Amino acid sequence: MPAVALDIGTYSIKSIHAKAGKVPSIQRVVEVFNETGIALPTDDMTASKLGELLDSFFGDNDLPRNDVRLTLPETVVSTKIIDIPPLSDAELSSAIGWQAEQNIPIPPEELSLEYQVLYRPEKKDNAQMRVLLVGTRKKMVEKYVAMFNEIGIEPTLLETQMISIIRSLQFTLDEPTTLIAHIGSSSMNLAIIHKSEMKFVISQMNGGQMLTKALEVSLGLDASQAEQYKRSYGLDGDQFQGKVKDALLPAVNMLISEIRKSVQFFVNQNPQEVVQRIVLSGGTALLPGIVQHITNELSVEVLVSSPFTGIEGEIPENVNHPAMSVCMGLLQREL
Ligand SMILES: Nc1ncnc2c1ncn2[C@@H]1O[C@H](COP(=O)(O)OP(=O)(O)OP(=O)(O)O)[C@@H](O)[C@H]1O
Ligand SMILES: [Mg+2]
Repeated sequence: MPAVALDIGTYSIKSIHAKAGKVPSIQRVVEVFNETGIALPTDDMTASKLGELLDSFFGDNDLPRNDVRLTLPETVVSTKIIDIPPLSDAELSSAIGWQAEQNIPIPPEELSLEYQVLYRPEKKDNAQMRVLLVGTRKKMVEKYVAMFNEIGIEPTLLETQMISIIRSLQFTLDEPTTLIAHIGSSSMNLAIIHKSEMKFVISQMNGGQMLTKALEVSLGLDASQAEQYKRSYGLDGDQFQGKVKDALLPAVNMLISEIRKSVQFFVNQNPQEVVQRIVLSGGTALLPGIVQHITNELSVEVLVSSPFTGIEGEIPENVNHPAMSVCMGLLQREL
């Protein structure tokens, strides 16, 4: 059955209509500018604005409304990995509420909690089990789902963005420890994957939009010129007398300093490990020169995610591939 994966970003709404599965076969990829700038409704007005936009998005692009898969932006999700003594599923289910109260900064009466065992030691020795907790505010999720119900959609999947992104990267057990930096427009999500397991995830409110703003201010450009200059010249110092690069650098370096902090945090917790690789995803991963610049700054291998590798189907030429990793991960989930 074909499914529709939807990734609502503050910059653009992205969707892939495909036969879902480990290797999705794509029927259509759609990306449109999000003129509302809203990724998640906070009240009735924003819900109806975004709902209307989505209704025409589905209508105009002839997208079916039966198996629609969604993500929640990492910024409204509280994700935590906890180490606790090994428990059976039943024991865990009665202990989880207390664990959530200790670890998730959302009051219990407002909390909607999902959890997943990441690791359970086989023998009852001193090893701890690791559990992933994902907390969201019930009201917020209800509002989000209600907005879709209004336009005739009963979502079949709602997960956090980083979970979809990690699935799209299809890590195997023997891959080097990797930091994923998903840089969108108004946010950057970071996660570290060690032995194919997520060690932590963190999100912050800066991304590509900050780079565009820097060009507007420094070079006196309007928003669309700044967007064009950013995409064409980026961090290439040979272009435009290096002016675009110079204007972008402080903002790019702010993002890099967040990445550096996350690497440091992981290494402090796991002194015998190193982060060997950085994978960039999200639209900003295509900034010219960003791979080389991060490589120079952090002395690690830097790659750009390519969620369409080995995938068949109609992929329009102008699509920003790394921006599509959320949608691809949603489609790769077996339901
Ligand atoms: N070739 C490019 N070079 C540099 N930046 C680019 C390029 N293409 C797109 N971008 C930037 O990527 C961002 C859009 O990426 P993406 O689609 O991942 O964001 P989003 O999902 O809409 O935002 P968010 O998730 O932060 O709400 C914009 O800031 C855009 O300017
Ligand atoms: Mg996004």
